[in-house]
Amino acid sequence: MNNGFVETGLSRRVTEWVRHGDPTILLLYGPAGSGKTVTVRHVAAQCGRPVFWVSATRGTNLELLFGLWTLRPTPNGTETFFEEGILLRGLLTPGALLVLDDAHLVAPDLQVLNGLGDSTRELTVPARGRTYPIAEGVCLVLIANPPPRTVASWERERWLIPEQIRDRARVIQTFDALTLEEEVAIARLYFPEDCPDEIVREWWNWRGICAPIAFFRRMRPPSGR
Ligand SMILES: Nc1ncnc2c1ncn2[C@@H]1O[C@H](COP(=O)(O)OP(=O)(O)O)[C@@H](O)[C@H]1O
Ligand SMILES: [Mg+2]
Repeated sequence: MNNGFVETGLSRRVTEWVRHGDPTILLLYGPAGSGKTVTVRHVAAQCGRPVFWVSATRGTNLELLFGLWTLRPTPNGTETFFEEGILLRGLLTPGALLVLDDAHLVAPDLQVLNGLGDSTRELTVPARGRTYPIAEGVCLVLIANPPPRTVASWERERWLIPEQIRDRARVIQTFDALTLEEEVAIARLYFPEDCPDEIVREWWNWRGICAPIAFFRRMRPPSGR
């Protein structure tokens, strides 16, 4: 354990992929609260690559993250220029690790990233009207949740990661990705240091019934031991 993170089989698999970045895209897929974001954050901080992190929200426009035309003042007035966005800067940085967290919120847009998994390794930015060669060693992690049960069936389609991306990606699922030992070690972060093991385990056994873990975690942020 370090900095409030517990090394797990999941974090070792992600670390192993980041080392080679092959295939170029990793899709980390599983339910909310299964440790996807913290795991990638931890691995990204350790991997020594330049990291470009984007957290998608509803309404994020991937094309705008490639860049947009803006005005800038010049001695004779103003000029328009193309300001490169975080995604494009990442794709042009050799060895970069790009992370798109909560990618399910922009699932239908993800096809614009297909080029990353192709042998041509090119990316067309329509707004800029040109194609860029993707830099050597760039790789991408997509973190995505499946639709929760409460999402209506006609809405589910919007959550689906496009087939072209799934076909190109290494997929790691985080449904039940943690062992019981790992889950108890993580739960331990939220108990006082001197709390007996039996209580942590007992609480873990009952958590589904007494209190959703996410709720409990919010009440007691880890002390960073
Ligand atoms: N390996 C781990 N070490 C420490 N805490 C963890 C670990 N895995 C999960 N957690 C805890 O679980 C919580 C939920 O994880 P998170 O990465 O936000 O889930 P997801 O991104 O899958 O929704 C985190 O805030 C953290 O408290
Ligand atoms: Mg997350």
